[in-house]
Amino acid sequence: MGNCIECPFHGWQFRGEDGKCEKIPYTDKVPEVAAVRCWPSCEVNQHILVWFHCDGAEPEWAVPEQEEITKGQWVYRGRTEHFVSSHIQEIPENAADVTHLGHLHIPGFTSGADLRYHYSRLWEFMQHKWEAEWAPEPEPNLHCSKMQLKHSMTFFGFHWSLLDLHVEARQMGPGLVFLRFAHSFLGRGVILQCLTPVEPLLQSVTHTMFYQTSIPPPVPKFLLKAESIQFERDVMIWNNKKYISKPLLVKEDSTILKHRRWYQQFYSQNSPRLQHQRDTLDF
Ligand SMILES: [Fe+2]
Repeated sequence: MGNCIECPFHGWQFRGEDGKCEKIPYTDKVPEVAAVRCWPSCEVNQHILVWFHCDGAEPEWAVPEQEEITKGQWVYRGRTEHFVSSHIQEIPENAADVTHLGHLHIPGFTSGADLRYHYSRLWEFMQHKWEAEWAPEPEPNLHCSKMQLKHSMTFFGFHWSLLDLHVEARQMGPGLVFLRFAHSFLGRGVILQCLTPVEPLLQSVTHTMFYQTSIPPPVPKFLLKAESIQFERDVMIWNNKKYISKPLLVKEDSTILKHRRWYQQFYSQNSPRLQHQRDTLDF
């Protein structure tokens, strides 16, 4: 309501600027202490985003506007939401893990996301091919990194160029990715990926698709579905893997270490740490 946020349960209204309760619909006496915590936030690309810093520091960078969304040239075409049992760092690290693309994401999307069956004989005639590069961005965008991804498909070993797709995944900070798609005639669009920690080792991940208005909705919906199947393959891994701070890697995995060095900037001395007793089975 106005610049207030209203609780859907009893209708209490809290001021946007300082969190103080302004109105309780069934009483004239609003208690002095009635207030909620106020967070720095912004409304951009049809999302409301909240800045969290464990030391309470003010926002250090702004989320750029995707002009095509603001101007209405790219419109909402669907959303997915997953809850993933993993360390927060695992999900962004996927972009720098370029070697897993050539294994986990090779089988055609039609063979599904269940890793027990996705190497299916039925669908093995269809394969994805990926060429990926990942790098951090220079000043003044040290909080950003970029993956350039070239996707193609083969059927019975023959490349079908109609399905060639270029994807640029630009990560901003630890929790936001712009996945921009460009196809020679199926148009352009973006999936916004938002990662929100819900509790230690539980992450909520949403993907929201915006696509050119001139392209029929089944096209972006198909792309979102295909992306979602590929993402769910990673989810099955994340749900079952443990974060290892010093993994055994080979030369070709070196971008994982680069990503880990880049990601360090998002931690501070007071970042929450998972405590568990190492000498018992109580974890
Ligand atoms: Fe992946």
